[in-house]
Amino acid sequence: MSEPPLWPSDVADDATPIEFSIQFEDDGARHLRILAETLPAHPGPAVNLQAAEDLIDSLAGRYDLSLDRLHSVRDLFSSAEPQGKFSWWFSFIFDADGAPKFKVYFNPQVRGADEAPHLVREAFERLGMPGAYDTVSKYALQRGEVDHLTFFALDLDRSPQSRVKLYISQYAAQPTDAEFAASAVRDIDPGQVREFCSVLAGDTPIFLGRPLVSSYSFVEGDLDEPSNYSLYLPIRDYVRDDVVARDRVLAHLRQRDIPPAFLDELISAVTDRPLEANAGLLAHVSLRLSPNRTGTTVYVSSEAYGGTPPAQRVPRSSPNHSTPYSANRTAIL
Ligand code: TRP
Repeated sequence: MSEPPLWPSDVADDATPIEFSIQFEDDGARHLRILAETLPAHPGPAVNLQAAEDLIDSLAGRYDLSLDRLHSVRDLFSSAEPQGKFSWWFSFIFDADGAPKFKVYFNPQVRGADEAPHLVREAFERLGMPGAYDTVSKYALQRGEVDHLTFFALDLDRSPQSRVKLYISQYAAQPTDAEFAASAVRDIDPGQVREFCSVLAGDTPIFLGRPLVSSYSFVEGDLDEPSNYSLYLPIRDYVRDDVVARDRVLAHLRQRDIPPAFLDELISAVTDRPLEANAGLLAHVSLRLSPNRTGTTVYVSSEAYGGTPPAQRVPRSSPNHSTPYSANRTAIL
């Protein structure tokens, strides 16, 4: 940690290649997760992908992974000259007992942005979910260039609940856009999405900083209809600092009957810095909606390389704290 980062990992704002999150189930259960990018000693797009493939091999030697889905789509999400911000990421999901679970995230942009829709459609077809792409497209890809295919993910555990998941970044979205995206899933209440946005983003009318991300999960037998919708809200761009972020997350946890003390436990596990010193410790908050189950996940930066740099911060003087930061403005246009 005394050296600068070896690679500008996009996992966290300060290039740390890991990010913590805690998954809260509405029934009180909690899971720790770590999102991570595998980095070799001399990183680069192609060798990072190789390191990720090697990690799969070594995990498969130690754990009982289900790799059929991975094998049927891996060539789509690989390239000799990977493009975009990453090729494959992982998440490690820990339970109080039992072996960890693993998830792999592919980058639909790995062969360039133009190829992304084709790759995702083909991946769903190979996985026996031929109509999934059209469903997602109807609900979350209707706004043209401001909706981006961001991650295509697979659970690697052997279970009927093992998911195929697609994430879409929705730039310059309004809460109603997310509410519409949620309406793709039957028997959930899309109105919860609007409430979530209002509590966590302080009634921000339009998300001009980092984008809202919508995701859909498909499990075996779902064919074309997703069985879950989740919304990820990059709270760090819509608050003055982590004092405000903490207050809003607390309000949300209270509404969902999740013990609010969990949040301070989580914060003190990663930092003792004053919360008013910066924003970005609380990076995202997500809401998971399934017909019989809901949950919340809080994403916490390790800030190992110093946390969200000031240049990426929303100017404090902006009236509603939602002015796009310049890097993102370029990304949108
Ligand atoms: N840091 C990236 C971002 O904020 C990727 C990322 C990390 C992310 N964790 C996330 C995106 C959780 C959505 C949700 O976009």
